[in-house]
Amino acid sequence: MKKIGVFTSGGDAPGMNACIRAVVRSAAYRQVEVVGIKRGYQGMIDNEFVELQKSDVANIIQNGGTILKTARSKDFMTAEGRKIAFENILKQGIEGLVCIGGNGTYTGAGIFFEEYGIPSIGAPGTIDNDLYGTDYTIGFDTAVNTALDAIDKIRDTADAHNRVFFIEVMGRDSGFIALNAGIAGGAEGILLPEVMNDYEALKDHFASNNRRNKEFSIVIVAEGETEGNTFQLADKFRAEFPECDLRVTVLGHIQRGGRPTANDRILASFLGNAAVESLLAGKTNLCVGVINHELALVSFKDAINNKKTIDHSLWHLSKILSC
Ligand code: F6P
Repeated sequence: MKKIGVFTSGGDAPGMNACIRAVVRSAAYRQVEVVGIKRGYQGMIDNEFVELQKSDVANIIQNGGTILKTARSKDFMTAEGRKIAFENILKQGIEGLVCIGGNGTYTGAGIFFEEYGIPSIGAPGTIDNDLYGTDYTIGFDTAVNTALDAIDKIRDTADAHNRVFFIEVMGRDSGFIALNAGIAGGAEGILLPEVMNDYEALKDHFASNNRRNKEFSIVIVAEGETEGNTFQLADKFRAEFPECDLRVTVLGHIQRGGRPTANDRILASFLGNAAVESLLAGKTNLCVGVINHELALVSFKDAINNKKTIDHSLWHLSKILSC
């Protein structure tokens, strides 16, 4: 291969820039040219290609967001859209792709290979950490630390006013951010989509004598919690515990931005390089990840079809420590 493409797709995640940088520098080291594709699959269709030299990725490792922008492309889901994308890729002379994103990104790359034979390697970029085939995704550590910083601040005001706070963190269908931020933030309760009847358990806990007369409380709620959204759960809680002065804070998109942590920059650098090496070694339809501190390569199919589970021992730990 003499020329490869790189793009970011789906929700942005801190560390994506570090990954782009690693792809460009790793390819240059091997005398391979890199073309950046803006706004993911949509940019392939709309002809948004930009040559990336080593110097073009200088001074970006510390920045959140993605210099290539990102999108969730509806056009690429159509056969016509993919045909245009393929023709544009051919015109550019791109022989392989590194795609940085989540499940949707891997799905698109898999279909593209089936239809047009363009080899792809995926790198896991999402704050949710919900990708099978890697212990950590690029952006997760930063998002947890951002949430934690906010939780610590809310703790001050919760303490000052003797209030209960329900703090919603991101995680569309998963509770990885909630569990990690909840443990690190010393939360009294953590509500996750992966745990059944956790609201009932929280209620029982508040009704019990185990609370050591606590004056304030932090409860972390994952965005994807299945027993109701955070505001609905807060309303229920208010009705059941009218003596509690309850507030809700939704942390939202602040978790997606900001300077990536050292862990995310290192992970992104390692995986960006591994993606290029794998692509140039003739591999395709695989995503790179890290399992037990070692490089892991998992097929797109496995990454898409398997659900990564939370660490239930951590969940259990949170119960023990919050008593
Ligand atoms: O997948 C990352 C994520 O931030 C989820 O946690 C969240 O549910 C979703 O993206 C929000 O997407 P958008 O930015 O398109 O509203």
